[in-house]
Amino acid sequence: LRGTTPVRYDENRKCWDVFRYEDAHQVLKDPATFSSKRGGEENESLLMMDPPRHTQMRALVSKAFTPKVIADLAPRIQSITDELLDAVQSDGKMDMVHDLAVPLPVIVIAELLGVPTKDRKLFKDWSDILVKGPAKNTEELFVQVMAERTQARQELDAYFAEIMKLRRQEPQDDLISLLLSADIEGEKLDDKEIIIFSILLLAAGNETTTNLITNAVRRLTEDQSLQQTLHEQPALVPGFIEEVLRYYPPVQAIGRITTKDVQIGDVPIQAGEQVISWVASANRDEAKFPDPDTFIVDRKPNAHLAFGFGIHFCLGAPLARLEGQIAIQAIARRLQHIRFVEGTPLTPIPSPFVYGVKEFPV
Ligand code: HEM
Repeated sequence: LRGTTPVRYDENRKCWDVFRYEDAHQVLKDPATFSSKRGGEENESLLMMDPPRHTQMRALVSKAFTPKVIADLAPRIQSITDELLDAVQSDGKMDMVHDLAVPLPVIVIAELLGVPTKDRKLFKDWSDILVKGPAKNTEELFVQVMAERTQARQELDAYFAEIMKLRRQEPQDDLISLLLSADIEGEKLDDKEIIIFSILLLAAGNETTTNLITNAVRRLTEDQSLQQTLHEQPALVPGFIEEVLRYYPPVQAIGRITTKDVQIGDVPIQAGEQVISWVASANRDEAKFPDPDTFIVDRKPNAHLAFGFGIHFCLGAPLARLEGQIAIQAIARRLQHIRFVEGTPLTPIPSPFVYGVKEFPV
């Protein structure tokens, strides 16, 4: 498709697909022409805002979600990872998804936000419901999913409202307390904005990081020599994680809507059209990445689009990278000769926009 129809209209889905790196880059770097506004004003999250509101909101939440806040989490992420690996090692078998890749990001986000430990299971269930795709076959199922979502949203709203009340009375060393106090020239976030942002962290941060970790382990089992390499040279792990993000990006595509008539490549597109930038394809574009289908552990440069590009560039990227690096470093240090349990069917996550598998027994 990159070679034949790099920009094409899909009649069935009523949207444009963009496959080349250069074109995806053009879309993502120009929010004035390619808008992120998809939802209504109600419950609008950062992800669906355009400037100037996006600029203000991003500046405010960035005050709480700083690189230092994230870097300080490293020792805690390390100990959670070790605890999770300790729990499964006795018989030498584990399911990477269930035993490590799912719980690690959920525990980290819950602790970061300041959610009590006992509520984690609840938290995970809510976040699963929120990211469950709407692409269901029958109308009945669709209605059921939407009803579940509405209920989960109401429960989460009530839950966070209670936590905010407590943090306002007695601030703690957590993200909710920081969000409550963050201000830029007197402007602060209101309760509703903090709730919507917290829910965005849940929805945007958990499943994506789960898939990053699982996809990384999958690479280690597909090419066993990588295990030895990373065991001997742990300093290669950050580059390895970047290459996993390029090669198996957890988020496969990013959507926008045109605000005016525009041309991508030599294809004219009218205002008001949906445009999907395929990260999965851009990351394998031979015009940008030499030998794109080869996994190169220390590929440089590696300007993949796994975290997007431009003003919406993933706010959680430092956290996702840190979790991925710590998890893989621990695996490379502690476990040797990890093998996928042959014969187990690999079930993909049932969404065209998410790349990962439901189970990965090793
Ligand atoms: C935005 C991917 C982890 C929070 C994005 C975008 C992508 C992305 C592609 C841009 C979407 C767009 O341009 O429309 C990923 C991947 C992750 C990951 C692949 C894991 C490997 C996280 C984590 C968090 C997070 C751990 C937070 C805890 C966000 C937020 C935005 C965002 C808040 C919106 C930023 C904005 O609109 O300004 N992410 N993400 N993400 N991500 Fe992530």
